Amino acid sequence: MRTLNRGPGTLYTKDMEQPSTTRVSPSAATTCGTSASGAPVPATSGRRNFLRNAIIGAGTLSAMRAAFAGRAVPIEQSAVTAPAAPPTGIVPGTIRLAHLTDIHVQPELRAEAGMASAFNHAQTNKPDLIITGGDAVMDVFEAKRSRAEQLRGIFQGTLKRECSVPVHHVTGNHDILGWNRKKSESTGTEADWGKRFACDLFGISRNYYTFDHGPWRFICLDSVQPKDDRYTAYLDDAQMEWLTQTLAATPKSMPVAVVSHIPILSLTALTYGAPRSREHVGTDTVIFNGEMHTDATLLHDLFKQAGNVKVCLSGHVHLLDHCMIDGISYICDGAVCGSWWKGAVEGIPEGYGVLDLRPDGTFTHRYERYGWQAQV
Ligand SMILES: [Fe+2]
Repeated sequence: MRTLNRGPGTLYTKDMEQPSTTRVSPSAATTCGTSASGAPVPATSGRRNFLRNAIIGAGTLSAMRAAFAGRAVPIEQSAVTAPAAPPTGIVPGTIRLAHLTDIHVQPELRAEAGMASAFNHAQTNKPDLIITGGDAVMDVFEAKRSRAEQLRGIFQGTLKRECSVPVHHVTGNHDILGWNRKKSESTGTEADWGKRFACDLFGISRNYYTFDHGPWRFICLDSVQPKDDRYTAYLDDAQMEWLTQTLAATPKSMPVAVVSHIPILSLTALTYGAPRSREHVGTDTVIFNGEMHTDATLLHDLFKQAGNVKVCLSGHVHLLDHCMIDGISYICDGAVCGSWWKGAVEGIPEGYGVLDLRPDGTFTHRYERYGWQAQV
């Protein structure tokens, strides 16, 4: 098993649900800049087809890394743009979303100043709303109570001082109190144990919810489910039922953005920390069950059936990618904290996503640096 520094609880899984058929959207090739025929893909192996379709975006990932590594390419040139977008200008009714994920605020490494800087920079883009994508604090999954309360104070205080636009929050694995009972010395009976802490941190009553802003509906999901003293990624039965009903009750004409902490689908979940030696060639490609939703195919089929889900945003991996499948974009944004405030992660610097969401369901996305220089 590879070693990852994502955080506590990365576990291995071998099997995923099998979709019956998949089709590569011709528009995906345009979006991601690599070749694809647009022909139907035979349903031989669901997981293999799924990965084959997802890999279309690999060209985008490598281009982003190359652009950021040189630091000479303007961010706009590395932007990912949805297909069928109007060529220029702001369409009336467009709303701007800033997606700030994986802040991991802490007392060390000037993280509080970094969080403030990211929010200030994001607001210069005049967003209509901000969504934090999880892992707001670093870390309460394993931390003892005094440390958890310190982190909560820093996050809430900084947010109150530095953010003056509507903000919504998604829960990440690092925001969940004490699931590692041994390291946190928790009993599991504390009133704010587990996701209750995250709800209090964010001022929400439940870790999954929906809201509307302008012509768009936003669905914030709770990716993180317990597994022993760790976690894995899926929606539990109650949340899946709620999501199914929510999508069914949403008009087909109303564009939907889904936001989760752990990617529902991601290329970087494949590449981050993956083995890079000849001895693994010809063996299975592995995605760990804490890296990407293990119910990805179920969710994608649900989104396809709903017909109104346009984009799914996530973080968690601290890397940047964009997969387009069946007309649905899956975007993983890089982290505000980069590598836990120690610099870039595999060439992806500290930053956040900016999306202009048009009333017709098309959108643009770019990943924007805020100028943070790590001092380690
Ligand atoms: Fe994170």
